[in-house]
Amino acid sequence: MLNNAKEPRLNRYQSFSFMNRTPVGDKKLDVSHKTVLYMEDVSVSFDGFKALNKLSLYIDDGELRCLIGPNGAGKTTLMDVITGKTRPDNGSVYFGQTIDLLQMDEPAIAQAGICRKFQKPSVFENLTVFENLELSMKADKGAWITLLATLTGEQRDRIDEVLEIIGIMSLKGQLAGILSHGQKQWLEIGMLLIQEPKVMLVDEPVAGMTHQEIDRTAELLLSLQGKHSVIVVEHDMEFVRSIAKKVTVLHEGSVLTEGTMDEVQNDPRVIQVYLGE
Ligand SMILES: Nc1ncnc2c1ncn2[C@@H]1O[C@H](COP(=O)(O)OP(=O)(O)OP(=O)(O)O)[C@@H](O)[C@H]1O
Ligand SMILES: [Mg+2]
Repeated sequence: MLNNAKEPRLNRYQSFSFMNRTPVGDKKLDVSHKTVLYMEDVSVSFDGFKALNKLSLYIDDGELRCLIGPNGAGKTTLMDVITGKTRPDNGSVYFGQTIDLLQMDEPAIAQAGICRKFQKPSVFENLTVFENLELSMKADKGAWITLLATLTGEQRDRIDEVLEIIGIMSLKGQLAGILSHGQKQWLEIGMLLIQEPKVMLVDEPVAGMTHQEIDRTAELLLSLQGKHSVIVVEHDMEFVRSIAKKVTVLHEGSVLTEGTMDEVQNDPRVIQVYLGE
């Protein structure tokens, strides 16, 4: 990964107060224009190759957006830019109307409420399902609160609430290591949800899942809309169809088209791009 940072970054202590997730100063999350996240004219080059090329994308508050496109289209790079892992050469990336994500580092962006689920589940196999959620909850509260602190009743209720949402309440006391691949993925989504993110980025969530697990994942992601904005990258078109409202098609680092699943699947340019793969 090239470090193409140009501007000095604020560290998490300078830029954020942990407890209320409110950036210092007047930079509260402003979604008054309905947009929770936008990027404009964003370009990223790796050794001259444009992984993102003047890309613009606008995500509404509470929206579930699907992002598709052939291999190498720039989908993961786009997530890397939003989460602060990769710095763009040009363009702007804003959280709401006022929070400039390009001025923040990865931990500060996560702390602000933008979280990401990577493809490979990374749960703690030797801890129970409950303990995994407990750990994420405490880790989110900042370094000075000890991991050994006892949970409050409210915190226990929140963990139970998340267990209901991800549908693995009956596995609460089981070691995470014995869960199926799908169950681990849901637990990991739960570990993000417990931190009450505003925006969740989910890269290829159903890869390696059984049909039943895929259907359950669709239900789960659909249930998050409204409260969270979710951007889902996925190659499984049947799955995308089952959850999609608006689909954005990426090609060669730019948005090729956006619309309903039917609109994009019948778009000759989209067909061409996929056939040409
Ligand atoms: N760190 C890097 N260094 C050099 N090239 C990179 C780097 N990261 C991504 N690329 C290149 O940028 C392009 C976009 O990659 P990206 O991973 O964003 O595509 P993608 O749409 O996520 O593809 P896939 O569907 O295969 O996951 C690819 O050509 C890739 O090889
Ligand atoms: Mg990718």
